[in-house]
Amino acid sequence: MQIVKPAEQVDMARNKRLLNRYRFIEYETLRILAAWLPATARMETKLAMGRFLWEEAQHVQHLYQRLREVQTPAFRPPDDPALETLMAEAINAPDERSLLAGLFRVIKPALRDAYRWHSGQTFANPDAPTLYALKHILLDEDEHVAWAEAEFARQPQGDWERYIAALLAHCGGVTGDETRSEQPAQPAARIPFRAPMTAARDKRFTILEQHWGDAAARQPTDEAARRLDEFENYSQEMLAAETVALIIYLSPAMPWDFVYDSARHCYDETRHCLLGIEWLRQHELDYTSVPQNTRIYAWRSQYDPATQYCLLTRGNEAHAFPHRRRSLLQYEAAGDQLSAQYVSYDMADERQHVAFGTKWLPQLMAQNNIDMPVEQFIEDTVDLWRREYLSRELPLHSEREAAS
Ligand SMILES: [Fe+2]
Ligand SMILES: [Fe+2]
Repeated sequence: MQIVKPAEQVDMARNKRLLNRYRFIEYETLRILAAWLPATARMETKLAMGRFLWEEAQHVQHLYQRLREVQTPAFRPPDDPALETLMAEAINAPDERSLLAGLFRVIKPALRDAYRWHSGQTFANPDAPTLYALKHILLDEDEHVAWAEAEFARQPQGDWERYIAALLAHCGGVTGDETRSEQPAQPAARIPFRAPMTAARDKRFTILEQHWGDAAARQPTDEAARRLDEFENYSQEMLAAETVALIIYLSPAMPWDFVYDSARHCYDETRHCLLGIEWLRQHELDYTSVPQNTRIYAWRSQYDPATQYCLLTRGNEAHAFPHRRRSLLQYEAAGDQLSAQYVSYDMADERQHVAFGTKWLPQLMAQNNIDMPVEQFIEDTVDLWRREYLSRELPLHSEREAAS
């Protein structure tokens, strides 16, 4: 009887172990990007992070779809405390540039190399679904690594990046199979992460620390002013992305499908923000001259994640359609195809967001120990939205307490 010794180094048991490690790293990266989105100041970086976190969600989805075919439950911890330490520590960066250098200049290149190696070492035909997943994930990872190389070309490796590299070495690299080094000491620069209750903006922007309200309340005087108001408003939709990002971070026990939908929701809002920025640029207007009303984020952040989600999806998003439909008619009548297209795509996204709200509120309420009928909760929260947002008051409870 002839026995053929396979040349492949990744057998099925090793495959599962590795896929669990990759899934864990991708998922934690998504969570860290969400956590840091409001805390990151530079607008261009925020826009990039919105896309990255959605692409990480695609990677988790690819890996999840393969993992559920080979193990139950599909989501499992990596069973390696050193790897868990790496991803638990990666969030405690001193600043946004260090954070992204740690994730994109240390962890990601190692992950990309592991995916390449793995692709050459698994049983090609029997494990073809894994190869398909890795091939598509690699398209993004190559782009992410190239982004970081360009973005941080002039930034020397700092203490934080060295620390992340040492933690990666301590867990035997992405695969866990390399020689493990000693656990490094925490650097002095480390700052324990805390959920951001305010939204950061870079110095180019002025901050509108005042009450805002909706478009009807602002009452632009004519159609040109109304159109400008609409796209200036789009250029502030980072605020919605930041709220969704915070909800993702504050809801680690929600099911994967929720995180997947919310990553898309968050990415969409960064795209709506970019759509406003691009519209202003196309009209030779400076988007940085539009004051950013970060008070909206600070106001929403005071509430539990279920209330924040309800304020956004059932307050703002569900109530935006009459205004948008009127805009669409106005732009079409004026032959303004650019504005009409932008609003049409926005409305398609927003219909999804309202549907996400309907789908996930019951579970998010349960997670936050809110025990009442869902319809009652929505009614109460929309009332709250009317009182505090539509009224243009956006009360901050800390200010109220300080005053009393
Ligand atoms: Fe939006
Ligand atoms: Fe939305």
